[in-house]
Amino acid sequence: MNYPYQIKSYEQYKADYKKSIEQPEAFWAEIATHFTWRKKWDKVLEWNFTEPKIEWFKGGKLNITENCIDRHLATMGDKPAIIWEPNNPEERVRIVTYNRLHKRVCQFAQVLLNNGVKKGDRVCIYMGMVPELAYAVLGCARIGAIHSVIFGGFSAQSIADRLDDAQAEFIVTCDGAYRGEKVIPLKSVIDDALVGNKTIKRVIVYTRTRTPISMIKGRDVWWEDEMEYAEHQVEKDGIVSLPAVEMDAEDPLFILYTSGSTGKPKGVVHSTAGYMIWTNYTFINTFQYNKGDVHFCTADIGWITGHSYIVYGPLSAGATSLMFEGIPTYPDAGRFWDIVEKHKVNILYTAPTAIRSLMSFGLVPLGGKDLSSLKILGTVGEPINEEAWHWYDENVGKKKCPIVDTWWQTETGGCLITNLAGVTPAKPSWATLPMPGVQPILVDEKGEEVTEKDENGVIKGNLCIKAPWPSILRTTYGDHERCRTNYFATYPNLYFTGDGALKDEEGFYRITGRVDDVLNVSGHRIGTAEVENALNMHSGIVESAVVGYPHDIKGQGIYAFVICNHFHGGEEQTRKDILQTITRVIGAIAKPDKIQFVNGLPKTRSGKIMRRILRKIAEGETGSIGDTSTLLDPNIVDDIVQGRL
Ligand code: WT7
Repeated sequence: MNYPYQIKSYEQYKADYKKSIEQPEAFWAEIATHFTWRKKWDKVLEWNFTEPKIEWFKGGKLNITENCIDRHLATMGDKPAIIWEPNNPEERVRIVTYNRLHKRVCQFAQVLLNNGVKKGDRVCIYMGMVPELAYAVLGCARIGAIHSVIFGGFSAQSIADRLDDAQAEFIVTCDGAYRGEKVIPLKSVIDDALVGNKTIKRVIVYTRTRTPISMIKGRDVWWEDEMEYAEHQVEKDGIVSLPAVEMDAEDPLFILYTSGSTGKPKGVVHSTAGYMIWTNYTFINTFQYNKGDVHFCTADIGWITGHSYIVYGPLSAGATSLMFEGIPTYPDAGRFWDIVEKHKVNILYTAPTAIRSLMSFGLVPLGGKDLSSLKILGTVGEPINEEAWHWYDENVGKKKCPIVDTWWQTETGGCLITNLAGVTPAKPSWATLPMPGVQPILVDEKGEEVTEKDENGVIKGNLCIKAPWPSILRTTYGDHERCRTNYFATYPNLYFTGDGALKDEEGFYRITGRVDDVLNVSGHRIGTAEVENALNMHSGIVESAVVGYPHDIKGQGIYAFVICNHFHGGEEQTRKDILQTITRVIGAIAKPDKIQFVNGLPKTRSGKIMRRILRKIAEGETGSIGDTSTLLDPNIVDDIVQGRL
C-alpha cells in the first residue's frame, strides 16, 4: 500500500471525517504512529481558544528533518527529492537525491552551528528559488533554529521590520536572484535593511548570479567557503552526517510574516509535530500522491504554499518535489508546459492568477506540448472563477485530470477545505469539503450560526472553525495577545478566518473572499492599512484610502484614493514618485494599480472613512453608490465619481 492513511474513496472520506470529529485524539494518534519519533507523546491534544492554548502531541520528541530526510534514506536514498529547474531553460537541471539532500542539510546545519546559531535562534532567509534555500530551511530545522523566510519581493524596509520583530541574529541570502529577464540584487537589499541594525551577527551569502556585492568583514561570509569547511567536520568514514537536535512536539518550527487588517505584518508561528503531520497528511490526500510521482508546486518558498507543498509536505512523504526558479512567462508563456513535458510532471499546483495570466496568451503556447504525464491539477490562493477553472480543465488537464481547489491560509499551515483529487467530488469554483479534523461553521455578525437558506438552499456567512486541527497557528511571534484578538476574539471559542463563504445543500463550501480590510492581489495578501500607511509616508500626501476592485488577472487590484497637496513635476510624475515610495516601504507587490487624486474622502460625522462607498466607486458601479446621507459632506462623493479612473 502506498500510504496507509491515504483516503481512497468517497465512502472512506466520510468514515474518516466522522471518526476525526468523534474521536479526534484516537484518529490523529493513529496517523502519528506513521512518523519517526524519538519519544512518543503523552497527550494527543489539549486546547482552549480563549487564551488561545493549543498543544498537539505534547511530550513527544522528534526532529522534522529525520521525518523529511533520514527515514527515507534506506529505501529511497538515490531517488530524487528535489528536481530543480533553473530560470534559464538552457542551464543545467539539478537533481537532488535524498542522499544528497541529507548531506547538504547536515553540512549546512554544521555551518549554522559554526556561525553561532543555537536552538531557538531566529534565522532570516532571503533567497531566490534555488535548492540551497531548501537546504537552509531544513538546516535550521535540523538544529532547532527557527527560520523566517522572507519573499524576495519585499523591500529593505519590510525586511528591517521583520528582523526587528523576530529579533533575528542571522541571515542567509544570495548575491542575487534570477527572475525572468531580471536579476534581483538580494544582498544589496539586505545591506540596506541592515543600516542601523544592531542584532544581526552574521550574514551567509550563497553565490547565484555573481552580482558584485559588498562583503563586510566580521559580518558577511560566503556560503561556499563555509560549506567546504563544514564538510570535513561532519564527514566520518566517507559519510557526511550530523545528528538532528531533539525537539519538543510544540517547539516552534518557523515564523512566517503575513498581512492583516491592522498595522504591520504579524509573524505567524507554526510548531513542529502538528505542522509536520498536517502538511504530510494533506499532501498525500489532497493530491493523492503516489510514490514516484513528480509534484510541481509553482509557489515561491517565501510564501506558506512553498513551505508546506514544496518542502515539508512532499519531503515528509518521500516525494519528488519540483522547484522552479523562474516565472511562468519566461522565456515565453509556454514555460510551465515545457517544464511539465521535460520533467514528466504528474501533479501541477498553481494559483488562479497564474492560470488567468496564461489564459490571456491564448492556446498557442500550449501547442505541441506533451502534457500527457499530468494526472492531477490544483489551485490555491484565491477564489477561482469558473472561466479559469474550465480553461485549466480543458486545455491543461484535457478533461482527464481532477482539479483540487484548496482553501487555506498562512495561519492554517495546510489545506483545510478542498476536494481530494478523484476521490471526493469537484465543483467548479467551490473548495467543497473540509479535511478530516476540520469543523467549519458559518456565523453572522454576532457570531450566531447561520442556518437560514436562500432559495437555492445555500447558507451564507463568515467562515470560522470550531476546533483546532494539528497545524493551526500557535501564536504571533512576540505578541500572543495580538494572536488572540486577531483570530480568536471576534467570535468567542471560534477561530475566525477573515473569509466569507457559502455552503450548499451537500455541505460543500465556496469561499467568496475576505470580509475584512485585507486584499488578495495575485494570491498575495496585502492589508489596506499597510498600503495606506506607506502612501501616507509620501511627502505631499495628506490622507489616503485604499480598497480592492475586481481585476481580470490579479483577481483584485489596488485602488488608492489620495489627497495630495503638492504635485512636484505634475500629477503623472507624482504618481510615479508615489509608486516608488510604496516599492521602498513595502515592495513592488503592494503598488496600487490606480491612484486617484481627490479633494476629500467620504467620511461619517465621526470621521470614519466609508469604504463601502469607495469600493463601489472603484468597482465601477454606475448605478447607486448607496446611502450617502450619513456623510459629513455628500458632495465629495460626486467629485470622486467624476474623477474615477
Ligand atoms: C487567503 C489566505 C493558502 C496559501 C496561499 C494564500 C484566500 C486561499 C483560496 C481558495 C478562495 C482562497 C482566502 C484566504 N484563499 N485559497 N482556494 N479559494 N480563496 O495564503 O496569503 O495566507 O491568504 O487567501 O481569502 O483567507 P494567504
